[in-house]
Amino acid sequence: MRLSEYFLPLLRDDPKEAEIVSHRYMLRAGLIRQASAGIYSWLPMGFRVLKKIEAIVREEQNRAGAIELLMPTIQSAELWRESGRYDDYGKEMLRIEDRSGREMLYGPTNEELITEIFRAGVNSYRDLPRNLYHIQWKFRDEIRPRFGVMRGREFLMKDGYSFDLDVESAKHSYNQMFVSYLRTFDRMGLKAIPMAADTGPIGGDLSHEFIILADTGESEVFCHQDLIDMDAPGADVDYGSDLQPEIDRWTNHYAATDELHDPAKFDELVPREKQVSARGIEVGHIFFFGTKYTEAMNCLVQGPDGKQIPLQCGSYGIGVSRLVGGIIEASHDENGIIWPEPVAPFRIGLLNLKVGDEKTDEACGALYQQLTAAGVEVLYDDRNERAGGKFATMDLIGLPWQIIVGPKGIKSGEVEVKNRASGDRESLSMDAVLNKFTH
Ligand SMILES: Nc1ncnc2c1ncn2[C@@H]1O[C@H](COP(=O)(O)OP(=O)(O)O)[C@@H](O)[C@H]1O
Ligand SMILES: [Mg+2]
Repeated sequence: MRLSEYFLPLLRDDPKEAEIVSHRYMLRAGLIRQASAGIYSWLPMGFRVLKKIEAIVREEQNRAGAIELLMPTIQSAELWRESGRYDDYGKEMLRIEDRSGREMLYGPTNEELITEIFRAGVNSYRDLPRNLYHIQWKFRDEIRPRFGVMRGREFLMKDGYSFDLDVESAKHSYNQMFVSYLRTFDRMGLKAIPMAADTGPIGGDLSHEFIILADTGESEVFCHQDLIDMDAPGADVDYGSDLQPEIDRWTNHYAATDELHDPAKFDELVPREKQVSARGIEVGHIFFFGTKYTEAMNCLVQGPDGKQIPLQCGSYGIGVSRLVGGIIEASHDENGIIWPEPVAPFRIGLLNLKVGDEKTDEACGALYQQLTAAGVEVLYDDRNERAGGKFATMDLIGLPWQIIVGPKGIKSGEVEVKNRASGDRESLSMDAVLNKFTH
């Protein structure tokens, strides 16, 4: 993409409404624009990142055996009356009336709708287990939308729902999602720590929040240092095998958000020098809730002995749009964003330091053409601007690599390659640059 033909509305100054760094950079780097409180348009650059995150989530869901579908954003109140949640949900639910007076709502979550779909489509234990997910916009009329996309009113969520015949098997489905989440966040360059979460009236220990550490996080968290140093399972993980040992490896260490934090236990279980107390951002949440909705909504299957059995369910959420902000919180410096490669909107920023200089234009044109042809995503700054401004823009938008081309280097047949994260620079020949990024 040539920057001279792109749509990248940058802000020079820090927007006053932005309290945290990710919100500031998202506005300044032209990723989003607020449409109304807690509701954002995704501008081209932000949209590319959102789609990259979504793709990683999808790949890891599919790898774990979950099946994608798409449910609508608008739901009927009727279903929510069946589960008993229509009144309970309160003001966070955006309620709408259609032209014939039917009560509708903008879905804040999808337990009811998926349970309705499942009960209509599955009758026998032979069709179990199944895990269905979608990636769809949600609306929650938060009292205090803030921090940009971190706590929006409209936000993109991956929500999945597992259906099993018994608790034992449901636990396996839960473990599959646990492992899948570790992999998903790891692939985005994040260190997400699973922390025991409140299970409310359901009880049990099958609820975990996946938390990334950041000073601006909304939750206070406490954990064992070793969790931060632990590696996520590899791509070769066998989701059909017993995953409990892997889950135990993570849950054997102390980790809790302020809700469940027990200072005495923390001191007892974690040596002082390994105690981490920090702030965190919830990027995912998995939850086993048994037959809560299937009983209320009569979602039954015929078991092996002919008896009707209510299904055992779990739900699994990932904050896809929140992750865009979360990744910036975890990866930035004073000059701007530092995108981890797997989610970067473009891999390379190509800077032409002297537009109009024949040799420089030629070298840039050749690099742009050949890299693009090789499938490398390049944003080519071909605008007739000062070099200083170009450097600042590239650092702000945070592409992982910069290729800097100026008349001086070209004279000796060289261009400069800068790594945004480390700041390391090297001078390379044109061939060496092509080789570096296309092999
Ligand atoms: N208002 C919001 N804005 C952006 N992302 C959100 C918002 N609420 C929830 N999410 C994301 O969706 C995931 C699943 O939501 P859930 O656990 O149901 O929400 P909550 O923890 O707010 O009750 C959360 O882990 C979070 O990443
Ligand atoms: Mg949650």
